Amino acid sequence: MNILIIGSGGREYSIGLALQKDKNVGKLYFAPGNGATDRLGENVPLNDFAELAEFAEARGVILTIVGPEAPLVEGIVDLFRQRGLTIFGPTAAAAQLEGSKIFMKNFLARHHIPTAKYIETDSLDEAVGFIATLETPIVVKADGLCGGKGVIIAQSHDEAKVAAADMLAGSSFGDAGTSIVVEEFLDGYELSVFAICDGKDYVVLPAAQDHKRLLDGDKGPNTGGMGAYAPTPLVTDEIYAKLDEQVIKPTLKGMEEEGHPFTGVLFIGVMVVDGEPIILEYNVRFGDPECEELMPLLKSPASELFLKAATGELANAEIAFYDQYAVGVVMASRDYPYKSSMPAEIIVDEINHEVLESNSHISYAGVSREADGKLYATGGRVLVCVGLGDSIKEARDRAYMLVGQVHFAGKQCRTDIAYQALKEG
Ligand code: AMP
Ligand code: GLY
Repeated sequence: MNILIIGSGGREYSIGLALQKDKNVGKLYFAPGNGATDRLGENVPLNDFAELAEFAEARGVILTIVGPEAPLVEGIVDLFRQRGLTIFGPTAAAAQLEGSKIFMKNFLARHHIPTAKYIETDSLDEAVGFIATLETPIVVKADGLCGGKGVIIAQSHDEAKVAAADMLAGSSFGDAGTSIVVEEFLDGYELSVFAICDGKDYVVLPAAQDHKRLLDGDKGPNTGGMGAYAPTPLVTDEIYAKLDEQVIKPTLKGMEEEGHPFTGVLFIGVMVVDGEPIILEYNVRFGDPECEELMPLLKSPASELFLKAATGELANAEIAFYDQYAVGVVMASRDYPYKSSMPAEIIVDEINHEVLESNSHISYAGVSREADGKLYATGGRVLVCVGLGDSIKEARDRAYMLVGQVHFAGKQCRTDIAYQALKEG
């Protein structure tokens, strides 16, 4: 079967890599893809949804998988379905779980799903009144999509008021911030939990932990994620059971009752506070870099998981995972996350180590292939070095051995990915 993957990041590369190993898969297309996805399939320079649907029809694409949130929120799934095409992802209405923080928070409240105490408002007076009732730090969020940057964690009441005022005036995030959520700060450890959903049934993937800050020890600015690992021992059976009963089941039931059955990836951003999972947010797509670690753990054919989810048949799918760990270390360009950097050639040393060769790989993200045929880092998060192993430590060591083989001017990465799991012993 031919498959079209929408997106251009390491996440989409890793989905392509999993599908490439699947003997049911014929040709892979990436729209638009990046400078390395053309090694896995064919890059298609299209963005327009109708043109993409025409392409899928013309090339006998059986399944389209959408990586990023923006096309989901803008309705790519609705358009493909209207044309009778099979596509993995939520409709625009269901994607509001990520597209609008207010929709998400009100949904959680309606269905009694645990989340931080909050108000949503477009009135500065109301925001200021609520801020006065909270202890610091205080969290202020723009309503709409801001590419992961619409959250301010204010250390004082005054800072929270200024953040709320700036957002409401449209000066920080434009229209995305003309309504805001103000909420209490949750102090705990953060997890990324993914459920692949077909509207009714779901498969929970091994829980992952991301590292959002730029620098070791969780210091520095927030980024899209500097590395992740899975499964994390920080999720006990008890927490999985609570997530299942208190979060995933009521979410799918609630979305169905409200007329927007959820199909695709439900990405649950969880803060565990005193052993209780509290929902920070939903996203409606895979996390990046979490996807890069989860895809290699998938033992079942990747096409089965995505196709059965897209066609409402997960109830009769048996999805298995390897009993292993994966650790992914992001290598980013010099000026990430502040600004883009000059292109830099990527050189990967030859790997003369059998164990490393079969237990590690690179997922490419911010790269382009130039006329000279060489791969260049083009800014942002450039690639993810993924290691696999029978323990987190083994997987981590392999990921960092691979990092040592990769060179480009200005490369930066964290040296402590998975530290929270390893400090447990
Ligand atoms: P979001 O865009 O909602 O995922 O927020 C970005 C990041 O801000 C999250 O991944 C958390 O690390 C942090 N964050 C968001 N809301 C809260 C909260 N209520 N308490 C503590 N940290 C938060
Ligand atoms: N790694 C977190 C995200 O993709 O939002």
